[in-house]
Amino acid sequence: MGDEPITAEQPLCASGALLERGKAVVFDVMLWRAPARAFALRFDGRVVCYINRCAHVPTEMDWQEGQFLDMDKRWILCSIHGAAYEPADGRCVGGPCGNGRLMQIATTEREGTVYWYPSRDIQPVVFDDAGPESPAPESAP
Ligand code: FES
Repeated sequence: MGDEPITAEQPLCASGALLERGKAVVFDVMLWRAPARAFALRFDGRVVCYINRCAHVPTEMDWQEGQFLDMDKRWILCSIHGAAYEPADGRCVGGPCGNGRLMQIATTEREGTVYWYPSRDIQPVVFDDAGPESPAPESAP
């Protein structure tokens, strides 16, 4: 496998899977070459997408899988210590996240499908289905 980053858009889900201020779609990515989770939700009609990692302590924030919004469905709320983020842009608006913000992932929506865009830091998980590795070439005596 080459080390070239993948830049092509990645299908994420059907548009209908993301209801206004509803449950998020959670998916796996590679962040700086390590497994991480990301999530997408619909807010004010637009799809927003972030790495599921709090700016306070690098941990996942949802209190149940896909549940990120507070009771009023106004803020993304970290379930650990209550940091609040603006869903539209991921910036911290209250709690212990200070000047931090969520890592945003670009998305687009086209013909009923939501896509996300990999970046240098955030890459899709690639499943190697080539089978067992080929044996090493025989070394010359
Ligand atoms: S880990 Fe999110 S507020 Fe502390």
